[in-house]
Amino acid sequence: MTPSYPVLCLLLLPLSAAVAAPDNGTLSATVIVHGGEAGPTISPNLYGQFSEHLGRGVYEGIWVGEHSPIPNTRGIRNDVVAALRQLAVPVVRWPGGCFADEYHWRDGIGPRESRPKMINTHWGGVVENNEFGTHEFLDFCSQIGCEPYVSGNVGSGTVQEMMEWVEYMTSDANSPLANLRRQNGRDQPWRIPFFGVGNESWGCGGEMRPEFYADNFRRYNTFVKNYSGNRIYRIASGASEDDYPWTEALMSIVGTRMNGLSLHYYTLPTGDWKTKGPSVGFDENAWVRTIKATLRMDELITKHAAIMDKHDPQRKVGLIVDEWGTWYDPNPGSHQGFLEQQNTLRDAVVAGLNFHIFQRHADRVKMANIAQMVNVLQALILTDGPRMLLTPTYHAFDLYKPTGGAKSVPCDVTTPDYIYGGEHIPAVSVAASRDSQGVLRISIVNVDPHRPAHLHVSTEGGTVSSVNGRVLTADQMDAHNTFDRPDTVKPTAFNGARPGADGINAEVPAMSVAMLEVR
Ligand code: AHR
Repeated sequence: MTPSYPVLCLLLLPLSAAVAAPDNGTLSATVIVHGGEAGPTISPNLYGQFSEHLGRGVYEGIWVGEHSPIPNTRGIRNDVVAALRQLAVPVVRWPGGCFADEYHWRDGIGPRESRPKMINTHWGGVVENNEFGTHEFLDFCSQIGCEPYVSGNVGSGTVQEMMEWVEYMTSDANSPLANLRRQNGRDQPWRIPFFGVGNESWGCGGEMRPEFYADNFRRYNTFVKNYSGNRIYRIASGASEDDYPWTEALMSIVGTRMNGLSLHYYTLPTGDWKTKGPSVGFDENAWVRTIKATLRMDELITKHAAIMDKHDPQRKVGLIVDEWGTWYDPNPGSHQGFLEQQNTLRDAVVAGLNFHIFQRHADRVKMANIAQMVNVLQALILTDGPRMLLTPTYHAFDLYKPTGGAKSVPCDVTTPDYIYGGEHIPAVSVAASRDSQGVLRISIVNVDPHRPAHLHVSTEGGTVSSVNGRVLTADQMDAHNTFDRPDTVKPTAFNGARPGADGINAEVPAMSVAMLEVR
């Protein structure tokens, strides 16, 4: 990887664990933070979310209906809104996913009792009643204070249908569609900053070949208009994992007609879609393989970005990682099509590692959306009737939230490896950023489940007067929160860092995610 900007927390030569680990079993790593240099801005949208009509992601997770005994505002549950407001969620992608390419937006407007129902063919074959539609989603966005990212239907929808949806949402004209919106209770147009033209068009979105989809993007996108001052950032359906020919075709045929090109990559402990492994009760083999699979994100982004650089050296087109996260076997006893899984400390570590990778590529990666926000896959929030819990992944987002909008700061990391089952993985991952107030934030992930890490951090370009922070850790790899014990894994004050003569000395626990604030 040879980016043209200073590398953010570049990993230097891994030392052998045998050499680097002191007798007491503590890992020893050194970090040089080039505090006087500024890399690219970390888009706040790297901490975006994704919510699909899938299982209990929308229904129960967000929407309970106006007559529910669960406290709600216009049908949207108040506890979930409060938790997401606290997180300052920047952007939410909706309604899919695969569901987007079978969703017909007109079915989700008007009086709820007369909305047509449909079968959600991808996710359990359940009947979708369309109670949560355009107005409800955009009300939800305004309640949590995020920007909407709406995914349009290319696979089974028409150009006209997509064009009219955009007009319905964003036009202030005295036109039939804007007037239909008014008739349905919304006078002012909404601002829709992000619009996806299809989803996984190589698969559930229509099994298209890249050239065919690229031509379709050009055609559909022509009719996605900017009405009434709304400016749409157009996101094309991008590659899965290492499908580099897809990126090559899109960049050469579509080019800068798109503003963003998506990438989907899920972390599977086994790499096998048939048997992915459980979300709790896993062993160290699953831990190390999950970490290794997560780190592949760096290679994928690097290689897709290199293709994009060839066609778009000025980096006008953003890489939008609009589906990422862990994907395990569904919880035993749950509906297998609902993709419900527990969320443990392992997921928080996966999130921290991905955040570092996204920050390292902040010159090209402009948005990322974890799959998914509530009750599905690597969820931030789980609900059970009226009860709600915040997962370790939620807490990881909370730790990293202040880095959105900050300038990344390059740094060099020298770390021993964590070695297990023949896998060698850098034990310590570090990223740094500086916000507009001058506060330097250094995030540290120690993936070793046994050994704490001693870090000597030299902060070039500034003296350190104080350092404090928070840390997320636990005694078990699969520590998690339950509805009866919702606070088992949550951040605590981090007192393990001290200002030193030329920087900071920090002792971070085994299997932890820490965020330091340095002044
Ligand atoms: O997030 C679950 C599914 O994963 C999405 O619907 C689809 O886009 C992807 O395959």
